[in-house]
Amino acid sequence: MTTESTPLLNLNVMKIHSRESLKDKASVIVLNAGLLLFIGLVVSVLVRLPFNLFTYHPIFMILFVTCCTEGIALLQSTRTTQEKKRGLRHHAIVQVVGYISAIIGFTAIVYNKVVSDKEHFTSLHGQLGLALFCYLFCQSLFGLLIAYTPSLIFGNVATAKRLWKFHRMTGYILLVLVWLTAQLGVRADYMISNLWSEKLMWLHWVALLFVIVGIVARIRLWKWGITSPPQL
Ligand code: HEM
Repeated sequence: MTTESTPLLNLNVMKIHSRESLKDKASVIVLNAGLLLFIGLVVSVLVRLPFNLFTYHPIFMILFVTCCTEGIALLQSTRTTQEKKRGLRHHAIVQVVGYISAIIGFTAIVYNKVVSDKEHFTSLHGQLGLALFCYLFCQSLFGLLIAYTPSLIFGNVATAKRLWKFHRMTGYILLVLVWLTAQLGVRADYMISNLWSEKLMWLHWVALLFVIVGIVARIRLWKWGITSPPQL
């Protein structure tokens, strides 16, 4: 029976919430610190160079890497139906912005090589970038189809919902490839030689470590069916 002195919220739920949100808040700080450090290091190179067609590549790729990472992070902690609905909307917006940035960044570097008459996809970074670009198209298309046209494509919503786990799994694989490609990009000779001091390259490892810790700390094992979901 509810009386004047009964708390409106179940205390156990409140405890779960406050404990999780503390861990979540810490992981967001660590993740954003890593992203900021990564962005800062790339921008610190760009400001030392004359602005040209190449500049669009790292600028838009930074935006893409950021959107891709944040877009995943914001969905990781969703639990209730309401949170999932809101999270999905934000995830879709952020990933679409990221995808458009990737198209601009990709076009800029390919066009830059066309006008300067250079060979294409010669480095590991360039080859991985091309593969990633194709993967990104499939990942985005699949995500949009299961989210917004579930019955049309997959027959019914229940079947589409069962496919979410594949989108989640391939999304994490994509994130690993995104960071691998970006790390190879920042290690291109042109980027290293224009860093204020080459000795600062170790800071890229710090940035990467922070991002990994931030993302891994937010993974919910119950969403993978490894543990049972928390009681609300
Ligand atoms: C944000 C960090 C990044 C930096 C600093 C960067 C830097 C560079 C540099 C210096 C080049 C020219 C040298 C080379 O061909 O290896 C290049 C080429 C290339 N990058 Fe990036 N990159 C970054 C992120 C990405 C990402 C995330 C992708 C994935 C789509 C990507 C895709 C490519 C491709 C496909 C080429 C080769 C284009 C061609 O050969 O026509 N880059 N990048």
